[in-house]
Amino acid sequence: MRKIVIAGNWKMNKTLVEASDLVKKLKELVKDIKDRTIIVCPPYPALDAVSREISNSNIELGAQNLFWEEKGAYTGEVSAPMLKAANCVYVIIGHSERRQYFGETDQTVNKKIFAALKHNLFPIVCVGETLDEREANKTFDVIKKQVADGFAGLSADQWEKIIIAYEPVWAIGTGKTATPEQAQEVHAHIRSLLPKEAADGIRILYGGSMKPDNARELLAKPDIDGGLIGGAALKADDFTAIIKSPFDKTQGK
Ligand code: PGA
Repeated sequence: MRKIVIAGNWKMNKTLVEASDLVKKLKELVKDIKDRTIIVCPPYPALDAVSREISNSNIELGAQNLFWEEKGAYTGEVSAPMLKAANCVYVIIGHSERRQYFGETDQTVNKKIFAALKHNLFPIVCVGETLDEREANKTFDVIKKQVADGFAGLSADQWEKIIIAYEPVWAIGTGKTATPEQAQEVHAHIRSLLPKEAADGIRILYGGSMKPDNARELLAKPDIDGGLIGGAALKADDFTAIIKSPFDKTQGK
């Protein structure tokens, strides 16, 4: 059984003080949960404060991005060793907002994955189609290319460290969630594209307007192994409700 992962992507929200407050509340609310991997990904300036707040808790830290070089004249960028030193365990790579607004491609995603792995950070790699691509029946092709190019060159050992997030771009922050059936279909497709030895163990998260009231049905699907949560991760109560969401994998078939 793959352990469910619930990761909060705070995006460009929460100042230092707000971030500490949020995680303080969250820590209390989820302290008894052992059967889920709980991750928060605050903005860079809050990483250190959040890391202190969650030391000795069941919450783990992730960053939202990284640059592939280790150091040097790259104004505004942050490297894998810096994230590691800030106690990050995970890093989100290739989020659709980064692809859309900051020119990220499957090639830059690939470099970032290798940079993260080199420094023992677990990549949470995002893939997903736009509305136009879905309407043109290109979803499977788009995902296939993102997986083939984004993950090119990974060894069997490296595959084991990967988490994938399927995030249909049309569902992110729009309140429009993919139906559990739509999501399951793509998750199964993604799993079929992974190397056989690793496919069964790799967690594939769903992202895109996941909320307390739809988490249960999504998580019941056989190939949905958790969620990457944006908006609903900004409120401790909502995020907790998703983390605690009961689900029954035998119902989702
Ligand atoms: P959302 O964002 O939950 O606000 O739709 C998800 C994401 O972009 O990771």
